[in-house]
Amino acid sequence: MVLELKNITKNFGGISALTDVSFQINEGEIFGLIGPNGAGKTTLFNVITNMFSPTSGEISFLGEKISGLKPHKITDKGICRTFQNIRLFSQMSVLENVLVGGHCRSKSGVIKSVLRTKSQRKEETNSHDVALELLELVGLSKFQDSIAENLAYGQQRRLEIARALASNPKLLLLDEPAAGMNETETESLFDLIKKVQKRGVTVLLIEHDMPFVMKLCDRITVLNFGKKLAEGTPAEIQNNQEVIEAYLGAEEDDEIA
Ligand SMILES: Nc1ncnc2c1ncn2[C@@H]1O[C@H](COP(=O)(O)OP(=O)(O)O)[C@@H](O)[C@H]1O
Ligand SMILES: [Mg+2]
Repeated sequence: MVLELKNITKNFGGISALTDVSFQINEGEIFGLIGPNGAGKTTLFNVITNMFSPTSGEISFLGEKISGLKPHKITDKGICRTFQNIRLFSQMSVLENVLVGGHCRSKSGVIKSVLRTKSQRKEETNSHDVALELLELVGLSKFQDSIAENLAYGQQRRLEIARALASNPKLLLLDEPAAGMNETETESLFDLIKKVQKRGVTVLLIEHDMPFVMKLCDRITVLNFGKKLAEGTPAEIQNNQEVIEAYLGAEEDDEIA
């Protein structure tokens, strides 16, 4: 098991964003987290990465309790994320953005950095090679020297994924990666997430694009008003009456309206 959430509750003042949420993610899975706006999906990512500590409950990663660790320690353990709104270093080059993502893997201390030892130069070469390989993976090799903000929207989203992968995570959290993408961009994102899975990275994904989620995910958890409404395979979720009433049905109504 890669990730285990046990009875996670998160209150913001009087608002209960998450109530008693438990689930487990197996190694190599693409696991979907869906639910209406405000259901608590992003809050769950913030709690997993300990940007917010849970009000109660416990999180384990690869059998080890991680609740209470500083966010950068959690990255070191092997959990990395992207954000619902793109967060890139917009004035830096594409390659530099990926290099920054790999920075937490660097072992060189301050003294070594100043002296630029042979081992550090070697480490820099390695990070550089890894960054180039990741740009290849996300299909952005030819843009390595472009300024990040000049990339098309879908490309920026893929760059964020490359940057997250640069820290060599075992679990990648993606918050609405397909949001705002056109059909071609969504298809290329689909292929990319499959490739990430093939590299042995487990994926937890929040997404509203239902055909995308249903085709991509091995299992899905549905949140509604901060509570777990259902969990199962895409087929089970699509046929779950409670889910249809609370979410899937409502989505269709929204589109008609
Ligand atoms: N930092 C915060 N402070 C106060 N309330 C928050 C904060 N973050 C999220 N919330 C509230 O928690 C609930 C869940 O939000 P969120 O996790 O962003 O939902 P989702 O990602 O499913 O759309 C909402 O009611 C939201 O207003
Ligand atoms: Mg959200």
